[in-house]
Amino acid sequence: MRLIEASLSGFRNLAEARLSFSPGVNVFTGANGQGKTNLLEALNYPALGRSYRGARDEELIGFGADAARVEVAAETESGLVESYEYGLERGGGRRLRVAGEPVPRKADLVGRLATVVYDPQTVTLVRGAPEGRRRYLDQGLCGLDHAYFVTLQAYNRALKQKTSLLRDAAAGGRGRAGLRDDLRAWSDEMARHAAPLIRDRARYARELGPVAQDVLAGFTGRPATLEIVYAPGLEIAEKEAPAADLSREISSFLDYIGEAEIRRGRCLAGPHADDLVLSLDGVDLRTFGSQGETRSVAIALKLAQGELVFRRRRIRPILFFDDIFSELDQERARRLQEATAQMHQVFIATARADDVAGWRPRDARRWAVEAGRITEAP
Ligand SMILES: Nc1ncnc2c1ncn2[C@@H]1O[C@H](COP(=O)(O)OP(=O)(O)OP(=O)(O)O)[C@@H](O)[C@H]1O
Ligand SMILES: [Mg+2]
Repeated sequence: MRLIEASLSGFRNLAEARLSFSPGVNVFTGANGQGKTNLLEALNYPALGRSYRGARDEELIGFGADAARVEVAAETESGLVESYEYGLERGGGRRLRVAGEPVPRKADLVGRLATVVYDPQTVTLVRGAPEGRRRYLDQGLCGLDHAYFVTLQAYNRALKQKTSLLRDAAAGGRGRAGLRDDLRAWSDEMARHAAPLIRDRARYARELGPVAQDVLAGFTGRPATLEIVYAPGLEIAEKEAPAADLSREISSFLDYIGEAEIRRGRCLAGPHADDLVLSLDGVDLRTFGSQGETRSVAIALKLAQGELVFRRRRIRPILFFDDIFSELDQERARRLQEATAQMHQVFIATARADDVAGWRPRDARRWAVEAGRITEAP
């Protein structure tokens, strides 16, 4: 996929702009605080229907503006050009259109505009809490399979219901009568949705391992064994068993821990507690990885995710690199730039012109960002 052009107004500190992009490499340089990340945020909004930085819609509107409006035209692999348009108003009004059609729910955006952002936060994928790795799994799987997305939502609903049942019971808000039965009903519902989630996550982690390992060797220049092991938050004998068998196994396990859940007043097990264990040449990265190693693996994981999207859906996601090259040694940074630019449209934002100095990819376009103004460099 690629972005063809964009027009923006009222988005954070950015001045009104119309930009047309290179199908290859697009570089934005500028000092700290000038608006580079804001631009990447504006361009990525339609992929998720929200800021990838987790900002609220209201925060995206320029301090002096009433509304932010952004329109982005993207071309798919098959040559189809689609426009993504959104308007955010003060007080919470939001309008989102794809190809002129209103998109009332974020869910309808899933899997359309395929983008991947790499920024200094990316490293938390390896270093941070399990939640980030679950989000990574979910994002990857949702991008491949809409059924996964639907199941995940159903699971989360059941989890929420069961959690509030347990919380009410713990607070004394309801008696013992019928509690065990109600709990069992929600546990069964959870198990029914958990089964396909666990099976898909296990399979996905297994497919991802060798792909990520190849990608990693491709830009570090050093072969190493990268292992990605799916660690479910439930004891499961056979993670890729048929869903019906898994569901039965999970149900009986949840039933077994039911009394403990009532005592503790919360859900004690399920895919919401899953994790991935990552190791490089047999060493656990979360605990022992060097900074450069953890960064490189985090980048490789995301690139591998893009590769799986390509294999399954023949779509190459658009890549956004926000200030990540300064954290890699020069050789890695250059190999990464070259390897990704061959296959993807790439957007690079950097405060250090050094990061891209001397790199002359074909069809590159460059801009300077200063106080929110984006001007193309000759
Ligand atoms: N809603 C808003 N309206 C106006 N300005 C805003 C808004 N939100 C953020 N800003 C301003 O945008 C600037 C930050 O822009 P951005 O994060 O894009 O910088 P950057 O060029 O990526 O810098 P760095 O190199 O430090 O990452 C800040 O000065 C901030 O005050
Ligand atoms: Mg920035």
